[in-house]
Amino acid sequence: MPWNCLQFNVDDAGIATVTINRPDKLNALNSQTVSELAEAFAQVEADDAIRALILTGAGEKAFVAGADISGFGWATKEAASEGSSSGSLIFRRLETSRKPSVAAVNGFALGGGLELALCCTVRIASENARMGLPEVKLGIIPGYGGTQRLPRIVGRGRALEMILTGDPIDAAEALRIGLVNKVVPLADLLSTAKTLLGRMLNNGPAAVAAAMRAVDRGLDGSLEEGLAIESSLFGEVTTTADCKEGVAAFLEKRKPVFTGK
Ligand code: COA
Repeated sequence: MPWNCLQFNVDDAGIATVTINRPDKLNALNSQTVSELAEAFAQVEADDAIRALILTGAGEKAFVAGADISGFGWATKEAASEGSSSGSLIFRRLETSRKPSVAAVNGFALGGGLELALCCTVRIASENARMGLPEVKLGIIPGYGGTQRLPRIVGRGRALEMILTGDPIDAAEALRIGLVNKVVPLADLLSTAKTLLGRMLNNGPAAVAAAMRAVDRGLDGSLEEGLAIESSLFGEVTTTADCKEGVAAFLEKRKPVFTGK
């Protein structure tokens, strides 16, 4: 489909790069961009040739500087809640995709931009990245999952400091608190994301998907519930051709050839 606010490319390794492309507005998420992101996530999920996703922003200044403030204004509190939950559902599709994703955070990731990055499997930042949830400075709170995902990733105290001050943190601090997995020079950001995804894609896709599902579904319940989810998914992956191939390849001292079946 023709994209107005995104660029969508797929390389030979099956890694899709979705670039949010409104650099003059620091890639702020207007409603058109959010709809196109929904389309892009659906396309990534549906196309068997696509095996992983990188999300990034156009230009050298911003990943996404938040929801587009120029479109703010809510007729009723119900309409505002509805807007928050419909956006959240789209973000959740990214988070629960069977395919791993990397947020390549190439500058400001604020508000909805950080919330989008929080839905990716992992986050990598360039040295110039700045990340925060500044919503309280506008008299609102995060509405695309920030109050829920940030504490799950960096812990309650650190998340509350970011959410309540609204102040952004730099890439070094984001690395220190575990908000991002790596910090690299801007010029190396996309290649680092591809290398990391490539290492995941060397493994059986069904096993990778099951492991992501186990973490996603298990994190919010008790340890007992999580262990039950893991055992159930463990059983499922043992029925796959990839499992037979992975074990056989190890015993035969060769590289496995996974088919995703
Ligand atoms: N929504 C709409 N437009 C935005 C935007 C947003 N979230 N963030 C940046 N822009 C626009 C600016 O209005 C400006 O547009 P203009 O050139 O037409 O005036 C353009 O992007 C460049 O931004 P500018 O503010 O001039 O850049 P800067 O380097 O001085 O500051 C930021 C960068 C990120 C600190 C600043 O843009 C900012 O605070 N943005 C809002 C962040 C925010 O609160 N996000 C959460 C929303 S809930």
